[in-house]
Amino acid sequence: MYLAHFKFDAHPFTLTPNTKFFCDLPTYQEALNTILMSLAQGEGFIKIVGEVGSGKTLLCRLLLDRLQGNTVSAYLPNPDLNGREIYKALASELGLSFPEDADKAQLMRLVNAELISLYQAGKRVVLIVDEAQVLSFESYETIRLLSNIETESDKLLQIVLFGQPELDVQLNQPRLRQLKQRITFSYHLRPLSRDELDAYLSHRLSTAGYTWGDLFSKSARSLLYKSSQGIPRLINILAHKALLSAYGRKKTAVKAKEMKLAIRDTDSAAQPFWEWGDRLLFWGFNIIVALLVVLSIEIYFSVGR
Ligand SMILES: Nc1ncnc2c1ncn2[C@@H]1O[C@H](COP(=O)(O)OP(=O)(O)O)[C@@H](O)[C@H]1O
Ligand SMILES: [Mg+2]
Repeated sequence: MYLAHFKFDAHPFTLTPNTKFFCDLPTYQEALNTILMSLAQGEGFIKIVGEVGSGKTLLCRLLLDRLQGNTVSAYLPNPDLNGREIYKALASELGLSFPEDADKAQLMRLVNAELISLYQAGKRVVLIVDEAQVLSFESYETIRLLSNIETESDKLLQIVLFGQPELDVQLNQPRLRQLKQRITFSYHLRPLSRDELDAYLSHRLSTAGYTWGDLFSKSARSLLYKSSQGIPRLINILAHKALLSAYGRKKTAVKAKEMKLAIRDTDSAAQPFWEWGDRLLFWGFNIIVALLVVLSIEIYFSVGR
């Protein structure tokens, strides 16, 4: 579409969590450090929480890239599974072969034996669960029991849970208190600050091969910040639509006009200027009505006299 127009090598604001575009802002560094430090200390459970679109899946992928060497990692991207399915997914991730109709007990034995032999071979095993807020009670229990497998001194499986804030609501249920107590390290991803938004845009644009000038005007960036509230997925959606709009209008830069069009076209984005418009309309209307009432009273009394 607009690649040639803006001289991009690739689309700068796609929604795929592509690690090539990763922008190393402090909140992501802190999250990664929390995970890597906790894993190195042998912690059994680590939790990372962030709003929808804040970059959790991207962090999972980054972590998978970083966990190499003597670490075997298993990734559950969609954990809407029952206990048996969790064992099955874990067995597949560990590269084990098993009959399609293997029951939970068989899969459990297989996985446990593999965890022991990996431990004996000096390997660390990490299970990464994305979207952990969708786990059922049975799956939370399965995961808790998996983390129970240990030698006298070490856990055989370390688990990193990534989830939306609903994960905390789930874990606050009395029946999940045993699991909650085991999470000794956690981190909450922050939305980007106004300055970080600039760094984020410029990083994604330069990764896409854009090297010259300010593509987004200051007022466009201010609107983008207010409307996205610093959430990367919303930033990407709005920036992409604003670029499309600038392209359609044969402009070489995105100004407030194009950003407003993008925001108006996006239901999930906050509509800051509409709020102001509405307020203006509301108060304007009230003032006019009040003036008319005062005027009518004046006229009434002056005619009466
Ligand atoms: N630190 C970051 N650097 C670059 N892009 C990011 C960053 N954080 C999030 N994104 C981008 O924002 C979008 C949403 O991220 P994603 O990981 O899917 O969010 P979540 O899983 O929390 O809903 C993706 O396009 C992702 O590439
Ligand atoms: Mg995600």
